[in-house]
Amino acid sequence: MTATLDCRICGGTLHEFFDFGRQPVADAFVDPDGGPEEFFHRLAVGMCTSCTMVQLLEDVPRERMFRTDYPYLSSLSSVMQDHFTSTAHRFLDTELRDPGDLLVEFGSNDGIMLDTIRRAGRRHLGVEPCDGVAEAAAAKGIRVRNAFFEEETAAAIAEADGPAKVIYAANTFSHISYIDSVFRGVDALLAPDGIFVFEDPYMADIIERTSFDQIYDEHFYFFTVRSVQAMAAHHGFELIDVEPLAVHGGEIRYTVARPGVRTPSPAVGRFLEREKAARITEPETLAQFGAKVDKVRDDLRALLERCRAEGRTVVGYGATAKSATLTNYCGIGPDLVSFIVDSTPAKQGKLSPGSHIPVRAPEAFATPYPDYGLLFAWNHAEEIMRKESAFRAQGGQWILYVPGVHTV
Ligand code: SAM
Ligand code: TMP
Ligand code: ZN
Repeated sequence: MTATLDCRICGGTLHEFFDFGRQPVADAFVDPDGGPEEFFHRLAVGMCTSCTMVQLLEDVPRERMFRTDYPYLSSLSSVMQDHFTSTAHRFLDTELRDPGDLLVEFGSNDGIMLDTIRRAGRRHLGVEPCDGVAEAAAAKGIRVRNAFFEEETAAAIAEADGPAKVIYAANTFSHISYIDSVFRGVDALLAPDGIFVFEDPYMADIIERTSFDQIYDEHFYFFTVRSVQAMAAHHGFELIDVEPLAVHGGEIRYTVARPGVRTPSPAVGRFLEREKAARITEPETLAQFGAKVDKVRDDLRALLERCRAEGRTVVGYGATAKSATLTNYCGIGPDLVSFIVDSTPAKQGKLSPGSHIPVRAPEAFATPYPDYGLLFAWNHAEEIMRKESAFRAQGGQWILYVPGVHTV
């Protein structure tokens, strides 16, 4: 594990603005029958005073996070399935015009996006280090290289498959601390007129909604248009487009290209202005964010303690990686939340990292319904509330904590 006070992008000085203390690996679910000792690290965030990139101060070794048995499966959400199907169609319609054009996706997981490219019979390659999810994609007939995307992997792909017209990564690029190696890989692999497109949680949304649970070991960088523009330039690329996305609680899709090859969209300038007006990189804004985080913690603990005192039952919904930060920072264990339901087979029967709340299959939510459902998967609220509409119909209430603690 490497602790640093230097910016991983430009070498500038980091200004630490929040410390969540000791936190577990957010996707490392615990075997109730025992197993290897849990690994903890200090989860703290800082902003670079030069390039403004927000980043973690400690880097958990990648093999501890992205293991053979990495449990996260992208395809369990129908909303995300629709999102990635339309993303793939956009690439097919606008970029992959020549039958020989290649699309490479890193962090392809179970193939949620690439399956549409495969069905269209187009050249593609997924790069995914976790064996289980990589095998799930390969079983669908998707071409997958079981590896971490970095300079060497990209150079080997360029050698074997030729240049890529599109390199794509969703909820992955911001997970990679060694981003300089990734940029060198993009440089080795991208066609002269190609685009590198990535989408990740937006720091401005995290600040605005106090969605501090987006901060956990796998999310190493927290992008803004300003910091991504600086990062792209630092690595010899140009940010040419930005597009806000409603998924995962607010994201931005960034498009970068080789300098001067494509005309930048006016959206880039618009977002830069908006970020300046919102003062998201001002130290006072970051200090206020910290105060709001602690208010959410205090309000949520008070509500859960009141429920316990009144004998009301609370069950968590969605054993998200985000909920590791929330439960461990707020001190929420099985005494306050009896169990969490989750549709991911590999999480069921396990205990949540650090907080050790049992995880069960979704059917357990209704047998019998609890008084309150604490929605850890708040970014999937619409889909889950639709699926579980009977819960509220019979008198149940959802507890949400973004943008503040409230019940619906
Ligand atoms: N793209 C999918 C989505 O948006 O639902 C999966 C996102 S998941 C949160 C992040 C994925 O990135 C994991 O499957 C992980 O194994 C993979 N990953 C992490 N580091 C990587 C790297 N250096 N190269 C390729 N994939 C990586
Ligand atoms: P995410 O917020 O990182 O995408 O994780 C969502 C978690 O919630 C994941 O473990 C799957 C789970 N989930 C359900 O249990 N039911 C659902 O309907 C959805 C959409 C997700
Ligand atoms: Zn910097």
